[in-house]
Amino acid sequence: MSKAKVFITRRWPESVEKKLQERYDVTLNTDDHPLSADEFKAALQNYDAVCPAVCDSLPAEVLKVSNKRCKILANFGVGYNHIDIATAKAENLIVTNTPGVLTHSTADIAMTLLLMSARRGAEGDRLVRAKQWNGWCPTHMLSSNVTGATLGIIGFGRIAQAMAHKAHHGFDMNILYYKPSDADEYVIDDLHATRCYSIEELMRKSDFVSLHCPGNAETHHLINAERLKHMKTGAHLINTARGDVVDTQALITALKNKQIAGAGLDVYEGEPNIPNELLTLNNVSLLPHLGSATLSTRTAMGEKALLNLDAFFLGKPLPNPVT
Ligand code: DGY
Repeated sequence: MSKAKVFITRRWPESVEKKLQERYDVTLNTDDHPLSADEFKAALQNYDAVCPAVCDSLPAEVLKVSNKRCKILANFGVGYNHIDIATAKAENLIVTNTPGVLTHSTADIAMTLLLMSARRGAEGDRLVRAKQWNGWCPTHMLSSNVTGATLGIIGFGRIAQAMAHKAHHGFDMNILYYKPSDADEYVIDDLHATRCYSIEELMRKSDFVSLHCPGNAETHHLINAERLKHMKTGAHLINTARGDVVDTQALITALKNKQIAGAGLDVYEGEPNIPNELLTLNNVSLLPHLGSATLSTRTAMGEKALLNLDAFFLGKPLPNPVT
């Protein structure tokens, strides 16, 4: 029997690409370039499975291409806001994702950004490299304490709880959290976390606000100019969720006016394009969507996508269905 034809939109860690190639007739995007809408359409027409990644864009216009051969989009990533899920459903395209394996690496990056923002880490690095450091003095680059401060977390799924655990047990932080409903259950162990029933309340009480909600129509610009006004002047906003959860222009204004002390961002509206204004601000720490970027996490994500493909082609229940 001939092998199913699988198209991988971006390069995966070598060990997983190898396994894929053993099981399927695989086409790789060898030079790892961002694909155009026409390339995605051709992939949907010519392959049994397409495996996109969170950097790809699969809007309705692409998914509705005629004469599709593709039956499954096995996404490399947990977030799927880059895929028009309603259209995928309407077009009978199965979508799967890779939850559970990037929890700690993403929470680690959120904590990294929190520390960088609080302690002016990126700014200090720039100063040293620019040879503008004139030596230690008692009032140089004073910053904010992390240990013992209050961390407010918006969204309280796996990654949020992992961050809360690290912050509480590692840095003695008080944890507040906001989640919109009781629907998604979770286990609060010994975090001594306090639930806030509005985002405004959480923002008013927190020294650090970390975003951990999915990117979708409901969370678009959840953090806007109005809500930013509720943050303390010494507070920091951390975003490792999705760029458009924050109204970037409103954040730039808040950072420029020193309405808040700083921000740490791993994700951006319209990434990888970042507004110049953000690049010129000293009180924001910027990372290039590194949340899951450890070799073992990215390998585990590939393995998960592979498990979903295997289940699909063997006619077994899918481990991580989205549609
Ligand atoms: C995801 O999988 O959604 C992450 O953003 C990738 O780091």
